[in-house]
Amino acid sequence: MITKPKGTKDIYGVEAKKWQYVSKVIDEVMEKYNYDFIRTPVFESSELFHRGVGQTTDIVTKETYDFIDRGGRNMTLRPEGTAGVVRCYIENKMYGNDNKPTKLYYNMPMYRYERPQAGRLRELTQFGMEILGTDDPMSDAEIISLAVNIYKVLGLKQIKVNINSLGDETSRNNYRNALIEYFKPHINELCEDCHERLEKNPLRIIDCKVDKDKDIMKMAPKTIDYLNDESRKRFEKVKEYLEVMGIDYVVDPTVVRGLDYYNHTVFEIEAKVQGFGSQNVIGGGGRYNYMVEQLGGPKTAAIGFASGFDRLMLALEKENIDILVNDSVDLFLLYVSEDEKKYAAYLSNDLRMHGFIVETDYLNRSLKAQFKQADRLNSKFTIVLNDNDLKNNEVKIKNNNTKEEEMVSLDALIYFLDENLNEESNYDANYKKDGDI
Ligand code: HAM
Repeated sequence: MITKPKGTKDIYGVEAKKWQYVSKVIDEVMEKYNYDFIRTPVFESSELFHRGVGQTTDIVTKETYDFIDRGGRNMTLRPEGTAGVVRCYIENKMYGNDNKPTKLYYNMPMYRYERPQAGRLRELTQFGMEILGTDDPMSDAEIISLAVNIYKVLGLKQIKVNINSLGDETSRNNYRNALIEYFKPHINELCEDCHERLEKNPLRIIDCKVDKDKDIMKMAPKTIDYLNDESRKRFEKVKEYLEVMGIDYVVDPTVVRGLDYYNHTVFEIEAKVQGFGSQNVIGGGGRYNYMVEQLGGPKTAAIGFASGFDRLMLALEKENIDILVNDSVDLFLLYVSEDEKKYAAYLSNDLRMHGFIVETDYLNRSLKAQFKQADRLNSKFTIVLNDNDLKNNEVKIKNNNTKEEEMVSLDALIYFLDENLNEESNYDANYKKDGDI
């Protein structure tokens, strides 16, 4: 038997319906914040990620899926969404639009060759958003609030927002030098990877998963102490806007993020529900004011966020959030003769185009077996199509809940269904239940 590759998932059945619901909520909330949907290629030239994400990140040094295509080009399956969005922004000269800033969101699979475990996949899905073309601290707060509000609308309660600032280039460099000075005499206490990080990117040592609990880490210099006045003031502004928006947060100096491109605000959102496991960061992001320029565009300030879809689904499950998925059909059409079957083909087609969920039989089942199938699908109504009734231009429709039967004229069938199925959809019910943000 051929099985799925390690670190990938098949999403089907009820789980697929839940995914669709969550995607729909994401679309709805993004629409309210006026973000446009964007889809970029699954593979890009490898250089994009080397230059965009950074040569010293774990993602680029150890985790990319690289291949040479049949034309001899070095390609990489995208490990994250930001670099591709920025490439698209530059290539399509979006920076030339009068409509500024550019607000974009995505929901797409990413590929990282990581050691799979619960919440850590090789094919992972992320939804994320980016604002390009503004350095206003209010946009930092907006990105954080948008992330939090999506989780809130979905019903998540046990989340914690950790924010930090890496400051501008000068602050970041001062901090970098302080880290080198601090860790150099203790290098032998750190893991092999951190030896390399010390010169190339000492910030990575701070979020090293291997060394994180060692004593030496506790006393390490903190970003906040190396912010220059301007960066400090900017960070204060971000916090003020978060407070105005009613977003709870904690300042955590250990949040430095695993990608090289950040400056100023960085943040991560953790799932705090018990039993979630070690991969509890459900989303992270930050400001990246230099990437557009580094990739060949004009100087453009930007900030963004991405959330692991798989981890979000896990958090919803652990918090016992009931996602109501539609597991019923409106109407099942039963038939016996070939003429009745033809009518079933006509009527199902017509009613579906009028917005009803209609099913019929495709396996030439007996009437008894068709009734069983209608029950399996939780059909709200059934009609046994009958040549005689059809000649009289009517059908007998049964409400499977009340068991009541009624003759309805074919001309009035749509009206009848509309009248009797006008309960709100499961999606609306869910949205209203948790949508009070
Ligand atoms: P990231 O922190 O690498 O940031 O990934 C964002 C989120 O994706 C993580 O917080 C986690 O929930 C999820 N994630 C990452 N790796 C895996 C994995 N192997 N399996 C399951 N979930 C995973 C970024 O990707 C940045 N592009 C975010 C960003 C957007 N920054 C600015 N704009």
